[in-house]
Amino acid sequence: MHKIKLSDDIYFIGVNDRRTALFENFWPLPYGVTYNSYLIVDEKVCLVDTVDRKFTDDYFDKIDEILGDRAVDYVVINHVEPDHSGSLKALRDKYPNITLVGNKKTFPMIENFYGISEDTLTVEDGDELILGKHKLNFYTIPMVHWPESMVTYDASDKILFSNDAFGSFGTHDGGVFDDEVNLAFYEEEAMRYFTNIVGKYCPHTARALAKLEGIDIKQIAPSHGIIWRSNIPYIIEKYQKWSSYTTDNGVVVIFGSMYGNTEKMADTIARQLAVRGVKNIRVYDASKTHVSYIISDVFKYKGVMIGSCAYNNEMFPAVENVARELVHKGIKDHLLGVFGSYSWNGGGVKNLQKFADDIKWDVVNSSVEAKGSMSAKTLDEAIALANAMADKLDEMV
Ligand code: FEO
Repeated sequence: MHKIKLSDDIYFIGVNDRRTALFENFWPLPYGVTYNSYLIVDEKVCLVDTVDRKFTDDYFDKIDEILGDRAVDYVVINHVEPDHSGSLKALRDKYPNITLVGNKKTFPMIENFYGISEDTLTVEDGDELILGKHKLNFYTIPMVHWPESMVTYDASDKILFSNDAFGSFGTHDGGVFDDEVNLAFYEEEAMRYFTNIVGKYCPHTARALAKLEGIDIKQIAPSHGIIWRSNIPYIIEKYQKWSSYTTDNGVVVIFGSMYGNTEKMADTIARQLAVRGVKNIRVYDASKTHVSYIISDVFKYKGVMIGSCAYNNEMFPAVENVARELVHKGIKDHLLGVFGSYSWNGGGVKNLQKFADDIKWDVVNSSVEAKGSMSAKTLDEAIALANAMADKLDEMV
């Protein structure tokens, strides 16, 4: 295999995972994912993060190919989530004298996950670890997206090992660096990764970005996806935009429908939005499209129209799942419209109104509820709802 270098003595030794269907056993991986790890070969040898335990053998082969019989002295644990710490136990068996480097929140978690409590070096914000020519500095970035999350900065080569921050879904299909790939693909998968995994912690991400602002960064080496070296302002600007809930003009129309009545309302609303000049309209059947993609588009566009048929006096389960995730993610600063069908006792619209109270978005107009199929009156109301959304979006321009 090619040896992939970030600099004279820093190697990329991560792995592609094309077999796992769901990240964290929940988020779809149609294009796979990578677990990135880095090897710094100096007077002391240091790993930055490891890989998912399923890939430990391939991972060790990569280390052996570079180091031969030489041992690893340190492993920096930027993040304890097992997609990055999964090989730690095997790594300690392979290198019994290795020292684990983390912060004060890292090691209680390492003990909980792996029963390891020895050979640790606890670092604090700004601390330095000298490997020889290379000096590492550590900066904690709590809740991006776990409490112990930190980043590591190599001052000699100006590389930021950024952990999950700036990561993306998608494997390395030949290209490993940002200037070797079509960025449009990775922007979509970086956004889906950010919104799905880190998006609940936007204020923490904004604080982390501010904390790292003064650092001279020539490469960003995250723990998933491509390494950034030619488009660093591009990905930082994206993170600033996403973490501040800055949206584009557009509407995501989400519906759950058993027999097509709520779907017809969704199509009526979408058509009227288009008539009113809204160009970015995404209509999603919550039963068909995984919430992962819907969340990503909600982060992208200012407007959300959400509709549900009634189901056992409740929301339709697939819509309920979307609504719960949107509240859970704490997404802010959106425009909202609610619609649905009543069937025999209601429940869809009634509970979506509770969702509207919980999420505290700007509701553009009264909710619209068809008794069964759309009447002439509910058709007019659906068009009025779409017009109210379009009016509010016009105010954005
Ligand atoms: Fe990629 Fe939060 O682990």
